[in-house]
Order: sequence, then C-alpha cells, then structure tokens
Amino acid sequence: MSVLAVSSLAKRYHRGGKPFAAVDDVSFDIGPAETLALAGPSGSGKSTIARLVLRLIEPDTGRIDFEGADFLALSCAALRSCRARIQMVFQDPLAAFNPHATVGRVLDDPLRIHNIASRAERPRRIAALLERVGLDAGLAARAIHEISGGQRQRVAIARAIATHPSLIVLDEAVSALDVSVRGQILELLLDLQRQERIAYLFISHDLGVIRAVAHRIVILDSGRIAESGDARAVIANPQSAIGKALVAATPKLIRNRP
Ligand SMILES: Nc1ncnc2c1ncn2[C@@H]1O[C@H](COP(=O)(O)OP(=O)(O)O)[C@@H](O)[C@H]1O
Ligand SMILES: [Mg+2]
Repeated sequence: MSVLAVSSLAKRYHRGGKPFAAVDDVSFDIGPAETLALAGPSGSGKSTIARLVLRLIEPDTGRIDFEGADFLALSCAALRSCRARIQMVFQDPLAAFNPHATVGRVLDDPLRIHNIASRAERPRRIAALLERVGLDAGLAARAIHEISGGQRQRVAIARAIATHPSLIVLDEAVSALDVSVRGQILELLLDLQRQERIAYLFISHDLGVIRAVAHRIVILDSGRIAESGDARAVIANPQSAIGKALVAATPKLIRNRP
C-alpha cells in the first residue's frame, strides 16, 4: 500500500485577473521508506503540491490518499492525528520557528500537542531527539537564532521525526545550506529513512541532490508532469525538453558522480 497517493490534483490561482493552473492533473504515489523527488524550475508548482499534500491549502479537484484513507475527507479529529504522521521540513527554519524560542521549546511542542510524552518525560525525549539528529543535548537551552543554519535544519528534522511520521515533505530543505553541511544533512535523512522507514516527498530544483537521495523523480513543467521514473535513469537520459534543460544546467561534477 502507498503511504501517499495523489491523483489528478489541480489548483488554480489568478494572475492579472486571469486564472492559471499552478498544479494541473498531477498524479503520483510514494511507498513506505521511499523517496520521491519533485523537480522542476522555479514556479513549476512544486511548493503548491507540498502545501496541498500537507493540507495547508485545498485542491480544486483531485484526490489525496494517505495511508489508504481519503485524506481530503477526514474529519478534524482524524486530520489532527494524521498531521502527526505527515511532517514537513522547509528551506528556512528561521521562518518556520519563532527565532527567539529555545531549541527545547521547538521540540517540546510536537511531543505535547500530540500527547507523545508526559511533561516529566519530555526533557529526556528532547535530549534523545537531539542526539538522534547528531546534535548535543545541551543545545536544548539555546535560542533558534543563536545556532547555525545546519544545526537549525537538524532541529527541524528532529521536530519532524518527534511524532514518528510515515511521510516527511521536504521543500528545498537543503537548498540554503553550504555544500559540506548539505552532504551531512542528506546522510542524516538517508540514515533516518533506513532506520525509521520514513517516506520522503523531496522537493528540490537541484538534480545533483536528487540523484543522491531519491528513488524516483517527477519533473514538473508549468504545473504539469513532464516526465517521471527511476531518478537515476531519468537524470541520465531525460526525455522531456524541461528534463533535458534541467540536466544541462546541473554541474558536470555532480552529474557524473557514481
Ligand atoms: N497563493 C498564491 N497566489 C497566486 N499565485 C500563486 C500562489 N502560490 C503560488 N502561486 C503561483 O503558482 C505557481 C507555482 O508556484 P510554486 O508552487 O511556489 O512553484 P515552485 O515551488 O515550483 O517554485 C507560480 O507561478 C506562483 O507564482
Ligand atoms: Mg517552491
């Protein structure tokens, strides 16, 4: 059974008074512990799909099944418990978190909100989460704005795994990081996927990064799927005009890495 199955999803916006399709007839599915990459140029609809999957916005038409249930038809209570099973990591954790909150507070929230641990247990859980993502437990007392970008993204990942999700939506989650930190975060994501069998909807405009982590790829062009398939096969031999253009724009060094 798929963790996530999206079919014929569509979302229109208005631009200059005229409607246009930001997402147009998009279908895909993701299996347990699988990484599906969404690629495409800026404005191709990647983040809109992320927001639809997270139910931050509603589609005009289409269907989303999460763990076998019709996600769009869920009651509030069911949606609340599903929300624990679908987590997100965005490009800029400074924007996602209150920068003055402590790291401990950021990690306490999901444990409290989803009743995962009692007040007495939570400090120990927070320390374990920090260690799980390669951070010192002492970081819990620091404010979000005081730690580095790489550390913040590790905190965002710790927060995402706190509720034992089966799916994490990562929207350009490593795009703002410098190359060495990016590699470490990708390793962490791969390790967590192996250990916890988490599926990733991995959104990136960077085919080098996608090639390193994704099993399958969907390439978008103006809201529509231009092509999809095995990530390495598609990147090695793209068939669509947009796929060819994205590969041509990827530095050779990264493209040819075994
Ligand atoms: N809330 C919105 N209102 C109007 N247009 C939007 C809105 N959100 C996104 N768009 C437009 O939809 C298209 C797809 O945007 P987005 O999903 O953010 O693309 P990507 O993440 O691939 O860069 C773009 O043309 C963008 O300007
Ligand atoms: Mg985007």
